[in-house]
Amino acid sequence: MRIMELKGKSGNSKILIGEPIAHLASLCTSEKNVIVTDRNVRKFHGDKFPDFPVLEVGLGEGNKTLPAVQLLYEKFLEMELERGSMVIGIGGGIVCDLAGFAASTYLRGMRLGLVPTTLIAQADAAIGGKNGVNLGGYKNLVGAIRQPEFVLCDFSLLSTLPEREVRCGFAEVIKHAAIADASLFSYLEENLHEAMGLKRSAMEKVIHDSILVKSSIVAKDEYEKGERRKLNFGHTIGHAVEKCCGIPHGEAIAIGMAAEARLSVSRKFLSGKDAERLARLLANVGLPANVKAEPAKLIDAIRKDKKRESEGVKMALLEGIGKCSVQDVPLGEIEAVLNDAH
Ligand SMILES: NC(=O)c1ccc[n+]([C@@H]2O[C@H](COP(=O)([O-])OP(=O)(O)OC[C@H]3O[C@@H](n4cnc5c(N)ncnc54)[C@H](O)[C@@H]3O)[C@@H](O)[C@H]2O)c1
Ligand SMILES: [Zn+2]
Repeated sequence: MRIMELKGKSGNSKILIGEPIAHLASLCTSEKNVIVTDRNVRKFHGDKFPDFPVLEVGLGEGNKTLPAVQLLYEKFLEMELERGSMVIGIGGGIVCDLAGFAASTYLRGMRLGLVPTTLIAQADAAIGGKNGVNLGGYKNLVGAIRQPEFVLCDFSLLSTLPEREVRCGFAEVIKHAAIADASLFSYLEENLHEAMGLKRSAMEKVIHDSILVKSSIVAKDEYEKGERRKLNFGHTIGHAVEKCCGIPHGEAIAIGMAAEARLSVSRKFLSGKDAERLARLLANVGLPANVKAEPAKLIDAIRKDKKRESEGVKMALLEGIGKCSVQDVPLGEIEAVLNDAH
């Protein structure tokens, strides 16, 4: 077990990597603790939950909405929760985002702990304090930044994940490797079989290194003034693909990363060889690479996305494997890359 500390302005987060969920109860030190989860996680792992009241949110991205948050608020009210009460989100990225947003806003902020149960959530979504919900078909339009008190990553919870969810998790891991950790990228290339088999020794490296990339960037730029935008690599185009094609987040950002790498090549920041390395690793994981939507529709979605700033979009472009920088990219340039691939 390894402990990492993420010190932020919105709070300090203790990240327990490889800690058994059996130790969760000892971290829930409030007089009133409440668990937020979903039906699948409860079915597979509910028997390991500490003995606190449990609230379920609906399944799927379509439930990451304000009405779902309102239902949580109403339950909190019924249960007479107080500012010192603790919300514990146990689930994937959707549960973490919903529990995090509800806990950050109810009574202007309650205590929060997260137990991520998907690879996406352990390697990415539960780390860094960002939470939020979708609005009007746009991703994470409403949200807050607030570090959870703790994030407990028990690798054994991943054993019940469907294969498609495992592949999606690797998309975020590859993102972290591609933007800032060349040695993690090589490790994945050389040990993909062990990693995808979720072997404990592989998870210890993959999840630890992935969290280290994210938490180091967040510690430097918690409120996304600059550096944190690097974590959006693949997400400008990926979010548009997610909206237009309705495919899972990890698959959409795999498509986004491949396209944004081609954009990096067209700017001569990245060699064609390195773009191919990225495309090959994504393909070996079994993630899709081709854009399945009309470029014009994707551009329209990007235009309306929250990261739009005047005419250009701030995007993370790769300058090599393990290196990237944030650049202003005009929409026309993104359109050209999407048209080329279509
Ligand atoms: N806040 C952030 O910084 C951040 C970062 C990355 C992604 N995200 C968000 O995370 C979401 C995607 O995360 P996700 O893929 O974890 O979504 P998810 O929460 O929908 O989980 C995927 C599916 O796996 C099921 N599941 C969860 N744990 C399981 C387990 N241990 N065994 C079996 N089934 C299990 C869930 O019920 C769900 O059906 C997106 O909404 C994305 O925007 C947020
Ligand atoms: Zn993501």
